[in-house]
Amino acid sequence: MWKLTFTSFAAGIVLICLGASRASAGDAVAPGQKIFTDNKCTQCHAIDALKIAKVKSDEEEKDDDEGGKKVEPPDLGDAGKDHDAAFITKWLMKEEKIDGKKHKKKFKGSEEDLKVLADWLATLKYDVPKKKDK
Ligand code: HEC
Repeated sequence: MWKLTFTSFAAGIVLICLGASRASAGDAVAPGQKIFTDNKCTQCHAIDALKIAKVKSDEEEKDDDEGGKKVEPPDLGDAGKDHDAAFITKWLMKEEKIDGKKHKKKFKGSEEDLKVLADWLATLKYDVPKKKDK
């Protein structure tokens, strides 16, 4: 009897914990976020609001660009404020320009991943302190 009571008690605790972690933003990793980190977007971009840090690597990701001046990759916490999913999709396929320039990297994953990723980025509307204006 005691064992049964304990088991349901433990199950209750687990359920409460699950609920709590779901409620606190950032604990449950969104599929889009996983695609983001899996596709090495973090080599250039951070998303401070979600505690996604830029990954330091000895080997700098090569720009697709042929020279030109260096642009600091922005924190993408407010990507959804500036762009919708359709634009981000095209942007990531280098079919759209921002300020007359295309993205550094063409997305190499599947079309499905691209959609999930773009939809997810479009939901990010955090206040990101601008480090510097262009
Ligand atoms: C080689 C570095 C690099 C990598 C890797 C990279 N980006 Fe970027 N990204 C940039 C730079 C630099 C900009 C600034 C715009 C520009 O190119 O002029 C930018 C801009 C963006 C923007 C537009 C931000 C805005 O608000 O204007 C989005 C969205 C974006 N990147 C998403 C991604 C995603 C998603 C990935 C991974 C699939 C990725 N980036 C990988 C360098 C990078």
